[in-house]
Amino acid sequence: MKEKQNAKPTVGRKLGASVAVFFGCYFIMLLIVFLMTVVNDPKHWYAYLAGHSSESLTLVVTIFFLFAIVFFYYLFEDFKTLLKVKDLFLIFTLLFISTIICYIFGRFIHFYSRPLAMFAILAICLLNRRQAIFLNFIFGLLLFVIDLCTNTLATSGLAASGISAQIFSSFLLTFLSGTFGVFFAGSAKTRGSLLLTGVFTAVPTVIVVLLFNLPEITSDWIDYVSAVGFRILACILSGVLALALLPFFEWAFNRLTVFRLRELTSTDAALLVRLKKEAPGTFNHSLIVAQLAESCAVAIGENAELARAAAYYHDVGKLKEPEGFTENQTDYNLHDEITPELSADIIRSHTKNGYDLLIANHLPKEIACVALEHHGTLPIKYFYDKAVRYSGDADLRDFSYFGPLPQSKISAIIMVSDAVEAAVRAMADRSPEQVEKVCRSIIEERMDLGQFDECDITMKELTIIKLTLVEALSGVHHHRVKYPNIQFNRDREAVSTEEGKDNG
Ligand SMILES: [Fe+2]
Ligand SMILES: [Fe+2]
Repeated sequence: MKEKQNAKPTVGRKLGASVAVFFGCYFIMLLIVFLMTVVNDPKHWYAYLAGHSSESLTLVVTIFFLFAIVFFYYLFEDFKTLLKVKDLFLIFTLLFISTIICYIFGRFIHFYSRPLAMFAILAICLLNRRQAIFLNFIFGLLLFVIDLCTNTLATSGLAASGISAQIFSSFLLTFLSGTFGVFFAGSAKTRGSLLLTGVFTAVPTVIVVLLFNLPEITSDWIDYVSAVGFRILACILSGVLALALLPFFEWAFNRLTVFRLRELTSTDAALLVRLKKEAPGTFNHSLIVAQLAESCAVAIGENAELARAAAYYHDVGKLKEPEGFTENQTDYNLHDEITPELSADIIRSHTKNGYDLLIANHLPKEIACVALEHHGTLPIKYFYDKAVRYSGDADLRDFSYFGPLPQSKISAIIMVSDAVEAAVRAMADRSPEQVEKVCRSIIEERMDLGQFDECDITMKELTIIKLTLVEALSGVHHHRVKYPNIQFNRDREAVSTEEGKDNG
């Protein structure tokens, strides 16, 4: 109850900040359109505005309504995004940058060379498919109203008779090429394939241009061919510019795109190279946890790429003192020479050390938070027990991780996968029944200790995770066939048929 009372003003404050961002972005867009009008006709812009007050007012009001539609879309469809000021600012920044780039190409190169699909390609990489399609439609309407109500087209050199047709075809092309861009870029596996997306969007574009300008083919075919050429160039430019601008958005808004996640899980990634070299045991453990976490994320509909990347980095904090962790020890055990309290400190510090290392290396906060949260506030039982045996008494708080508790389902998945991997690795009998027993006890223990209290994971999802882990671990530690120890002599005759040891 107390928590709910505290949470209300927080939501209110966040919503207030989002409203402020909305109005701020609206005025920035008006400023951009005003500057376009001035650049179009630096000497007579004032006369243009004075003589076209009705168009100017229409523009001001329509842009407000378009921005309000974006705001209400997030209010009713995706309230969490609306509460994140940074995400809302990202959406409007995408609109600003795309509008400015389209203006520059249209004004200074050719009206048909505007990279209309660039916005949609960037939106699908940074947001999701639903948002990208919706926002692309808004972007098309925004360009439409800017073309219609400003002096951009009148000063762009287009024949006055064809202006209104061009405005309508531009809107149609933005919608069509952008939506095709969303579908193609949505399945892109590498950054390079974004270039191909631009090429693909040329297909609907060329078809529409052919149909729109059909009567002109015979009368003015040179202009017609150049129009088609510029449209194809614009589509290719959309892919090229999206590819060039994507790293800026990833960096400025710390966004996790599928490309960035794949780059982070490449074995060439700097921290993973270090982990492999300085803590090979932890590196191998992380690879298996990544495999398990990815399967669990797929099973409950979470971001599998993020789960895999977060698992790769969840234990990088062990780099500070790799020999303090069992998986990196050989004959020498550091903990034989120090007090249980000091041992527990070394062990529990790896979560905070990992978080600091990841932030210092500019890894996404989502991944750093998993490193910080993956042990929650669990007790380090082995050293607590050792301390009790040595001194007869010990404070459990000195032998517990610092927290915080997992805040996301990905953190919860990695908490369970991590513990299950370590427990199953130490088991002699890895039959599915035994693995299921261990998974169940690990999940139940964490539930009893309230480790999932701050993330919205459900009982049903925890059951799915348990079943997925049992199935996945059966694949990792599969049952090996006992090979008979048959030996052959020179004449290829069997000389021994005793059943030998497992040699798989
Ligand atoms: Fe850990
Ligand atoms: Fe771990």
